[in-house]
Amino acid sequence: MTKPEPDVLSLIKNRHCCRKFLPFEVPDEHVEKILDAGRSSCSALNLQPIVFYACKDRNKTVELGRRIEKIGLEQMPDMFSVTPDCGQLEKIFYGAPLCIHFAVRKDGYFTRYIDCGIAVSSVLLVAESLGYSTCPVALGKLFGDQMVCEAFGIPEDQDYSLTVCIGQCSPEYIKADSDRRDDNIIIVE
Ligand SMILES: Cc1cc2nc3c(=O)[nH]c(=O)nc-3n(C[C@H](O)[C@H](O)[C@H](O)COP(=O)(O)O)c2cc1C
Repeated sequence: MTKPEPDVLSLIKNRHCCRKFLPFEVPDEHVEKILDAGRSSCSALNLQPIVFYACKDRNKTVELGRRIEKIGLEQMPDMFSVTPDCGQLEKIFYGAPLCIHFAVRKDGYFTRYIDCGIAVSSVLLVAESLGYSTCPVALGKLFGDQMVCEAFGIPEDQDYSLTVCIGQCSPEYIKADSDRRDDNIIIVE
């Protein structure tokens, strides 16, 4: 018997970040589905201000991640001490076999970063539904904005905003605590 597809709420509740990936490639068919989820997401006025830079070159990802991590360690060593150490190749993109770098057109509407968040969410959920693990990453922007733009030819009129790392999670990954708060819903009757 085939396993039933998880419903969307279960996907949201059960997903957690992975910060150490196995080296297996994500097949093109899945890369296309994941990117299609991002591209198909809604945006204010349907302006579609996001450009998706998908990198399947793991060597390039690791090399870039190492360079950015070095700068991060110089500037904010504490930032990395919170990530459980489980022999990652680097602690920016975690050696992910697929990285999707999200860039936002700078001249867009004021909602463009909200549009980006919605596209990120779609990508996370479709990747998870295909059996992959994910991690959204802002540290690439914080410590290596220019390096990422140069590495992928992101032009001046686009703002590199976030990377989503995707792949199969290594069994060596030590899951971080990620309880959700329960005091932030107000129902007005
Ligand atoms: C916008 C955004 C940026 C994030 N940036 C990073 C990052 O740079 N590095 C990292 O390891 N995790 C990053 N995360 C992952 C969060 O730390 C993680 O989602 C949170 O701790 C909850 O854990 P969970 O996703 O496992 O439930 C980011 C998440 C979001 C939504």
